[in-house]
Amino acid sequence: MRRREFLQISAGSIAVTALRGIPQVPERPALRELAGAKNLLVGSAFSFAQMARPEMAALLAQQCSIMVCENELKWGPTQPERDRYEFEHADAMVVFAEAHGQKVRGHNLCWHQSNPAWLETTITPGNAAALLRQHILVVAGRYRGKIHSWDVVNEAIHLEDQNAGGLRNSVWLKNLGEGYIELAFRAAAEADPGAILTYNDFGMEHDAPDQERKRNAVLGLLRGLRARGAPVQALGIQSHLTAHLDPPRFHELHGFLKELGKMGLRVFITEMDVDDRDLPADVAKRDRMVAGLYRDYLRTVLAHDHVRAVLTWGLADRGTWLDAYHPRGDGQKKRPLPFDAELHAKPAFAAMCEAIAECPARSEERV
Ligand code: G3I
Repeated sequence: MRRREFLQISAGSIAVTALRGIPQVPERPALRELAGAKNLLVGSAFSFAQMARPEMAALLAQQCSIMVCENELKWGPTQPERDRYEFEHADAMVVFAEAHGQKVRGHNLCWHQSNPAWLETTITPGNAAALLRQHILVVAGRYRGKIHSWDVVNEAIHLEDQNAGGLRNSVWLKNLGEGYIELAFRAAAEADPGAILTYNDFGMEHDAPDQERKRNAVLGLLRGLRARGAPVQALGIQSHLTAHLDPPRFHELHGFLKELGKMGLRVFITEMDVDDRDLPADVAKRDRMVAGLYRDYLRTVLAHDHVRAVLTWGLADRGTWLDAYHPRGDGQKKRPLPFDAELHAKPAFAAMCEAIAECPARSEERV
């Protein structure tokens, strides 16, 4: 039996056997059912390791209509050496999603992080365009027709670097200038003309001067790309939120989302989680405040028809990247996601269900 066939069978059987063992989710329709009724996609990032945990696989299959590989499609894992590509884990994860009728987001084709060591030492202004283009043609080409949307360029804006347009210092900007972004989108369109090509970034959600400046820089980037005819069709708003005793406000986000709609762009909430590092230690209180932020934020973004997908950055607290990012002062694990480490639904899950159940249905024409 060829490895690929083995992976296909194992991915499919993981979900089937585990569905029998899934922890009881409270008597609520699954997120994917609630969202499907509104022509909305809902899902989560997942890892190969999580997919191999039967009860986790079953919960992902039950709740999600769209998935994204947390790390397996980044440059480092897919092209560990200049002339070697690795797709075993990503292949199995795409098979898992297809086996469960789930769409797949690709993340990501061009970033300042998660690049393999060989790239940082090999790249020059003379070979950078070819390296970037080849990577995108190979990786996006491999999954042609299988990817709902690609995060083609991730986190290119970083105002603190004080470059023109607010662009972030990176191996790409250094070797190619700002044109690397358009190059990446054009290569992605060539590799997979059916995927929705997305620019993905963070730090533009809250009512705050720095986030307003970032929103304006992102709009400037998108308008420039569109003016040059670059094939960018969506913005990914990562939505890594931080809960505070005084809950953040999202009024300015409405204007931003309206501007994106006027440009004919779809919007995806791509990596939502709620960092509770500043909240009290009491778990019940923390969970309630985190749920309140899920509810407020989702009510805000789902009021806009062109918001077409909501993904959390993980479905359960176990293994969240946030535990390594500004750990809580009291040493407690963070509780940023809809399910706890034992896969029991939390108030944040109920908040997501309620926000999706009460939001207007998406109009069909933007499917
Ligand atoms: O797989 C290797 C393993 O072989 C090795 O032993 C281990 C120790 O070095 O590292 C493992 O790779 C780690 C990888 O996660 C898989 O666990 C990398 O070091 C680590 O840097 C990587 O962190 C990821 C991070 O992006 C950087 O790629 C996080 O899991 C992931 O949640 C985070 O996700 C990002 C999005 O891609 C973009 N938006 C922000 C978000 C949070 O930072």
